[in-house]
Amino acid sequence: MSSPIAIPVPVHQGSPVFPTSSPTFTDRFAIHRRDDGYGIRQPKVLRPVDNEGLRFLLLENISQDAVSAFRAQGFLVDHHTKAMSEDELIEKIGSYHAIGIRSKTKITAKVLKAATKLLVIGCFCIGTNQVDLKSAAKTGIPVFNSPFSNSRSVAELVMSELVGLSRQLFERCFEMRRGLWNKQSKGCWEIRGKTLGIVGYGHIGSQLSVLAESFGMKVIYHDVVNLMPLGIARQVNSLEELLAEADFVTLHVPELPETINMIGEEQLALMKKGSYLINNARGKVVDIPALIKAIKSSHLAGAALDVYPSEPGSNGAPFDNSVNSWASELCALPNVVLTPHIGGSTEEAQRMIGEEVSQAISRYIGYGSTLGAVNFPEVDLRAIAADEGDRVRVCHVHKNQPGVLRRVNEAFAPYNVEKQYSDSKGDIAYLMADIADVSPTDIHDLQEVISSTDANILTRFLA
Ligand SMILES: NC(=O)c1ccc[n+]([C@@H]2O[C@H](COP(=O)([O-])OP(=O)(O)OC[C@H]3O[C@@H](n4cnc5c(N)ncnc54)[C@H](O)[C@@H]3O)[C@@H](O)[C@H]2O)c1
Repeated sequence: MSSPIAIPVPVHQGSPVFPTSSPTFTDRFAIHRRDDGYGIRQPKVLRPVDNEGLRFLLLENISQDAVSAFRAQGFLVDHHTKAMSEDELIEKIGSYHAIGIRSKTKITAKVLKAATKLLVIGCFCIGTNQVDLKSAAKTGIPVFNSPFSNSRSVAELVMSELVGLSRQLFERCFEMRRGLWNKQSKGCWEIRGKTLGIVGYGHIGSQLSVLAESFGMKVIYHDVVNLMPLGIARQVNSLEELLAEADFVTLHVPELPETINMIGEEQLALMKKGSYLINNARGKVVDIPALIKAIKSSHLAGAALDVYPSEPGSNGAPFDNSVNSWASELCALPNVVLTPHIGGSTEEAQRMIGEEVSQAISRYIGYGSTLGAVNFPEVDLRAIAADEGDRVRVCHVHKNQPGVLRRVNEAFAPYNVEKQYSDSKGDIAYLMADIADVSPTDIHDLQEVISSTDANILTRFLA
């Protein structure tokens, strides 16, 4: 072999390999840093030794910015605005190295079996239930998503609900639409000076805390973790304490066995008379029949719900008793604001999701980093500097079994291993190592040895 470019390297469980020569590949991973004599070293631009003409399949209405970003990086992108069925995917996926989907495309074990070249899956959304994560990991494919890009959008929706509920905005609006003029101030309040109780002070809860204070609200929060308050918010000792003190209770916890029905009859009874409940978290966190009772008895002045235990699968589908047995009773309550799970649905959130997931895909393909992967051990190495000579980065996905590191390190023994890091998650382990002064022949030999081990799932070299 005369050049690293020409080296054939196994890619994916014995699938074919691609030489690389594209200059755009180099450009697209360039990181620009100041070079002002303070010793800041330029990171080296890595490119896969073994992938030329990487093909991306992007489905559903993924942010156009992400599509353009991949094209600008030199990837060959096929973009279809619709989801694909399992059969269509099985037919097409074999020629792609990366796939980007939203929530409607299902990546099943059968699809993964046909995905012989696939390196990475990007879910351009919050959830990853649509992917068989275990099978993907066993095939050496990390899955990336964007769980927190829409925090601000949810927090802003809650602010609108606080004002909307306390000013009876939705009742007045319905009345006007029915041709009824009903100007009144009874039961209508400013939110200034009222107490907001935030349950779950994570990405959304803490954003909301800042917004609510700027409206002049007092903020208290309850979280299972002790968290530093933002502004002058105050963490209370228990959920019960929060329920007894807050004028508005808003829920921002994940769905976990311990959060299912965390707001039921008993907790609603602890809330102040005339207070409001807002749930933009997950539908099962609130016992809805108990909430209906609390509203009907006027113990609560109102509620806003964006999420439900069962939700229709597509737009235009009915939201009725066939979906949730109490739906008609809930929909008949005038002082309950109902929205179809739109908390995170804004153009800004979609754009941020596009940026975050496309960057994660590019980082994995270009640098091997699995930071943020949902089904994989998270491994990363600092960048190789431009002046660090003939370094090669080995990215070795393998079965998590004894003896693998010994065998791999035996293969590395003749070389200088500059950095190495490995981690495991369940059945899967991932090792990254930067090796110095390796010739193209060395790379070829290393590849042969490492990828022929029993535990090998996928081995890539970046140079
Ligand atoms: N309506 C929407 O469109 C929409 C959009 C995004 C997120 N969400 C949902 O909002 C919720 C919060 O999202 P996030 O991004 O802020 O999550 P996050 O993980 O950043 O924060 C959740 C917080 O809840 C706390 N927590 C967990 N269990 C708890 C318990 N039993 N009692 C009190 N606190 C508890 C955690 O410690 C954490 O601080 C999630 O359920 C998410 O699925 C809804």
